[in-house]
Amino acid sequence: MRRSIARAVTGALGLVSAAAAALAAPGVASADRVIVGGEPVEVADTPWVVALSSRDRFGGMRAGQFCGGVVVAPTKVLTAAHCLGPEVLGGAPEDVSDLAVIAGRTELTDKGGREIRVAETWINPAYRPATNAGDLAVLTLSSPLPESYVLATAGPGDSAYAPGTIATVYGWGDTTGNGTYATSLRAARVQVLEDAACERAYPGNTSGDYQPATMLCAGDPAGGRDACQGDSGGPLVARGRLVGLVSWGSGCAEAENPGVYTRISAVLPDPLPQTVSRG
Ligand code: ARG
Repeated sequence: MRRSIARAVTGALGLVSAAAAALAAPGVASADRVIVGGEPVEVADTPWVVALSSRDRFGGMRAGQFCGGVVVAPTKVLTAAHCLGPEVLGGAPEDVSDLAVIAGRTELTDKGGREIRVAETWINPAYRPATNAGDLAVLTLSSPLPESYVLATAGPGDSAYAPGTIATVYGWGDTTGNGTYATSLRAARVQVLEDAACERAYPGNTSGDYQPATMLCAGDPAGGRDACQGDSGGPLVARGRLVGLVSWGSGCAEAENPGVYTRISAVLPDPLPQTVSRG
């Protein structure tokens, strides 16, 4: 089934009902495919992957996780702009007083790692909700993470953007495409695809509008491995550098509908932006 952009953008909203479904059926084992077609990873090996959390908005079952993020400086975390949109948060980010980042915790239901409040948010002014173009936000943390958590970012012309490059996407999102949310961090190996693969899938109709200038196409040409709902804002890493953020797609892990990522080299401001205080 094809999903419209609007459905993809509001994907994180599905977490509310997913959390409710999980509450109703606590005995259901988590799927062993996540992110879709992935495998478990330890955040100790990938400390730059963080979860975005609001228990007030998304409930405490999965520590309030609703999107992913990536640490690019001790107090700076990148995520998708649509993760901070009104359809996801129900209002402005400033109104979500318990907005936090969870770092150093593989299993959301554990107590480990640290939860750090988001002090300031910056949404890319070039972000366009209708198309998801420029889907980037920068969070400033209220206290710093260790320098060792920081992941390098790819710049323009980085060789990691060459089609065929192996890349890995990380997250706590849906493992099946049916609302089976992971509680433990997963990763899936995909590859950077030609822009043409996403231009075919998303020609600007109701399936979506792939814009190569600010978006990146990645997936499994055979299908089966992909990011999915709840993974948004999380990192796509190639050659040890951040190349993309999970942004949108039609369905999950369908061969003919690759994942679309924010193209970090095109969208990340250098230097990182000054952010607006959350009072
Ligand atoms: N928009 C989704 C989210 O909010 C991410 C969808 C990614 N989809 C994909 N097939 N790669 O979590």
